[in-house]
Amino acid sequence: MDFQHIIVTPGIKPHIALVQLNRPKELNALCLALMQELVSAIEALDQDEDIRCIVLTGNQRAFAAGADIKEMAGKGSIDMLKVDQFSNWERIKRCKTPIIAAVSGFALGGGCELSMLCDMIVASETAKFGQPEIKIGVMPGAGGTQRLTRAIGKARAMEMVLTGAFISAKEAYAAGLVNKVVPAELYLDAAFELAQSVAAMPPIAAQLAKESVLAAFNTSLDEGLVFERKNFYALFSTEDQKEGMKAFVEKRKPEWQGK
Ligand code: CAA
Repeated sequence: MDFQHIIVTPGIKPHIALVQLNRPKELNALCLALMQELVSAIEALDQDEDIRCIVLTGNQRAFAAGADIKEMAGKGSIDMLKVDQFSNWERIKRCKTPIIAAVSGFALGGGCELSMLCDMIVASETAKFGQPEIKIGVMPGAGGTQRLTRAIGKARAMEMVLTGAFISAKEAYAAGLVNKVVPAELYLDAAFELAQSVAAMPPIAAQLAKESVLAAFNTSLDEGLVFERKNFYALFSTEDQKEGMKAFVEKRKPEWQGK
């Protein structure tokens, strides 16, 4: 895959793809062109049956410092409405393949929102998460008021959104925003390790399980339970269910077909 603002490596490890944001001089500011490429890459990887987990990362200094302020600075509200750039992010939300954000350095504004759009976050101890949009006269526009509040609760989300204050990786871990915090030099390895644990699972079950966990944010408990149950029953028409249960009974390791 040939892109200008991102580097995509399908199969960097067995069944794992790496997507790296690559505007280092701009701290990976998420300009329109970058987001367009990112959405296309994620959609293509989601269609690739060999890929069972995607790792999304930036570089040591920045995962991403937000939407591109220079690109937005001169715009009016009608321009913003017409381009409606953040609705494009919904296409990443529809990705069935689990996505892990490997975050080092700044994950601010749209960068924090992008990490939260992923299914899990592995953070370097240098990571800083924040929604500083208020400091430039606006507010989060790509999920920050919603996903952050759901992840860490009203009190802490409100403080971050209203003051623009950053939280450290350790604070993000304590608040339940990230899955693990590791030394700076290990964040990508730790993300791959987690990705390998996901990729070792039967992919259709992983996809339906992801879909069911995410449904918890949009449904009542009863609706969510019905949704979960139907996905559970649906898995009984996969070969991997037959193999998984047979292997358990035969006391051997299952061999997944992804069917
Ligand atoms: N957009 C465009 N360019 C950005 C940027 C952004 N979000 N963040 C950083 N850059 C650019 C800087 O302008 C600078 O470019 P030049 O060298 O050409 O001047 C370069 O990246 C390096 O940045 P700094 O010199 O500022 O580096 P620093 O180490 O002094 O500060 C920082 C780092 C604290 C992250 C600071 O750059 C910063 O505050 N960035 C903006 C963070 C922000 O407000 N993000 C929210 C954006 S709005 C948004 O995301 C809306 C939404 O909800 C989707």
